[in-house]
Amino acid sequence: MPKLEWTTHSREETIQHGREIGAGLKVPVLILLSGELGAGKTTFTKGLVSGIGAAEEDDVTSPTFTLVHKYERGTAAQKGQNKPEAGARVYHVDLYRVGNFHDLETLGLEDVFSEHAVVIVEWPDRFTLRTDWPVVRVHLEHDDEEIRRITVES
Ligand SMILES: Nc1ncnc2c1ncn2[C@@H]1O[C@H](COP(=O)(O)OP(=O)(O)OP(=O)(O)O)[C@@H](O)[C@H]1O
Ligand SMILES: [Mg+2]
Repeated sequence: MPKLEWTTHSREETIQHGREIGAGLKVPVLILLSGELGAGKTTFTKGLVSGIGAAEEDDVTSPTFTLVHKYERGTAAQKGQNKPEAGARVYHVDLYRVGNFHDLETLGLEDVFSEHAVVIVEWPDRFTLRTDWPVVRVHLEHDDEEIRRITVES
């Protein structure tokens, strides 16, 4: 994937870009979402997860307190849809409130990295996650009330 850059003017536009990226992902992959509070990391994730086909965007919420959300759509009927990787498992992780390595270990991410899955991480700079999976980096910048600058690199 070449480096991509967009400016979005609404949350829907950000979700739509996430959906396009999600639909083109090869599994497994680790997606690191950086950007300040309210930059749109969770909003972009709504698009990613719906593009992957693991859940509807409205069902994707911030893992603020639970720290990890898991999305999976595994029925035979849904796998029969011609969506790439429909049924892929998605873990959405928020490291913002993870205080130390012990807390990080209790999330069980090591086991997740042995699955066939997509792992999406908000606040990835808090800890270095050990995996040999391909990494996609998404950075969101809050420009103005509704304007965001988004870059995607792999
Ligand atoms: N162009 C835009 N793209 C994305 N979100 C937007 C945009 N314009 C306005 N918003 C609003 O900005 C907010 C972004 O919140 P979101 O929870 O996605 O941020 P976040 O980066 O996940 O924050 P946190 O670090 O607190 O988890 C939402 O309320 C969304 O509706
Ligand atoms: Mg968030």
